[in-house]
Amino acid sequence: MDALLGIVFGDEGKGKVVDFFTPHYDVVARFAGGPNAGHTIIFEGKKFVLRSIPSGIFDEGKLNIIGNGCVIAPDLFMTEARELEAAGYSLTDRLHISRRAHLILPTHRVLDRAYEAAKGKNKVGTTGKGIGPTYSDKAARVGLRVGDMLNDFEEKYRALKARHEQILHDLHFTDYDITEEEARWMEGVEYMRKFQLTDTEIEINDLLEKGKNVLAEGAQGSLLDIDHGTYPFVSSSSTTSGGVCTGLGVAPNRIDRIFGIFKAYSTRVGSGPFPVELFDETGDEIRRIGNEFGAVTGRNRRCGWIDLVALKYAIMINGVTDLVMMKSDVLDSFDTIKVCTAYQKDGKTVTDMPYDTEGWQAVYEELPGWKTPLSALRDEADFPEAFKDYIAYLENALHTPIRIISVSPDRAATIMR
Ligand code: GDP
Ligand code: IMO
Ligand code: MG
Repeated sequence: MDALLGIVFGDEGKGKVVDFFTPHYDVVARFAGGPNAGHTIIFEGKKFVLRSIPSGIFDEGKLNIIGNGCVIAPDLFMTEARELEAAGYSLTDRLHISRRAHLILPTHRVLDRAYEAAKGKNKVGTTGKGIGPTYSDKAARVGLRVGDMLNDFEEKYRALKARHEQILHDLHFTDYDITEEEARWMEGVEYMRKFQLTDTEIEINDLLEKGKNVLAEGAQGSLLDIDHGTYPFVSSSSTTSGGVCTGLGVAPNRIDRIFGIFKAYSTRVGSGPFPVELFDETGDEIRRIGNEFGAVTGRNRRCGWIDLVALKYAIMINGVTDLVMMKSDVLDSFDTIKVCTAYQKDGKTVTDMPYDTEGWQAVYEELPGWKTPLSALRDEADFPEAFKDYIAYLENALHTPIRIISVSPDRAATIMR
């Protein structure tokens, strides 16, 4: 089996590449995160943004799995699944959900807001989907799992909700009304019961034994990983390759290739350190050309040049074997392209990711731009020389081959090397 992981701050284009890879696999499985993800897939003039459902869903013959490491909101799942059903994709027979995945309750979302409000100026800038509180309950061993939907559910639901209400009361966060949301959530629970809620961990291992090929689809990015990201400005799951094992129930020696996906530049949504962030016109240009507005929350994505300090760290943590570079076309018009090779603070220069990424300044090298539109190109031989040089520079600095290059949002604009 292989994995495709976002190796920076998310939104690298995972959805597009998983969809492009799917014909080569039998199963596509999400192992972490939940509806905080927004994975965009564009083909044949159609556009979909997936939140919880794996991006292998458009290939009718393939099994898709939501693994035990994921968290799932029944109401949002229902909305997402119904959209796909309305577009003509059958789901119930080829989307299996782990009984061990945790449920996001409406009150988890209220808690998300309450915790953010209490943080004052140190807000994480979460997506508000209840991710942190749900994973907290998982770790605290009080969470509700998908499997709980199958017996004594109402009672367990009421107990956890009461626990949340008590916390909200203690935080003096009482101005909320979830009546309508809760009704829809319960409808979502009913809807989810139509699906195969299974022991996907056993299923995946059986399929691997039979020689089937599985692709693990990452969510978020390595720098949002609960252990290896820019803590505390992170999400709450294990987004790195270790998370593939725990989040699907597969052993490390099952994993063959680890594809690390990144953009030809950098973006970040939400708060937290971002040494390459550009506050000038160049940053605005990248945002405009790259359409860098969040797929989930519509927020402006913060933009900057590519960050080799971050990429080297993520390649190491994940054991990336192959790189995938996205959105190269966004840099088409720039005279020069900058590359961050180190961070500097108080006269000190580092090339390894520091413990505290706050307050560091990026140190750049400058390369010539290619000043040629890339979007229509489908063959590496046609790439402008300066773009070939950019690729070679990155491969040399990162000691890892860039196997795939994407030059426009469409499925067809994906070049294998
Ligand atoms: P994900 O969360 O990693 O799946 O990525 P998102 O879907 O949140 O964000 C990636 C955005 O970039 C989407 O709007 C894609 O349609 C778009 N995109 C993907 N690849 C390319 C590319 O090569 N060029 C351009 N211009 N856009 C791309
Ligand atoms: P995909 O899978 C980009 C960010 C949020 C916030 C932090 C914590 O589309 O790449 P959370 O709601 O998870 O508690 O928020 O993580 N974040 C993402 N940023 N892409 C994502 O997913 C993200 N999922 C969470 O903006 O800073
Ligand atoms: Mg996204």
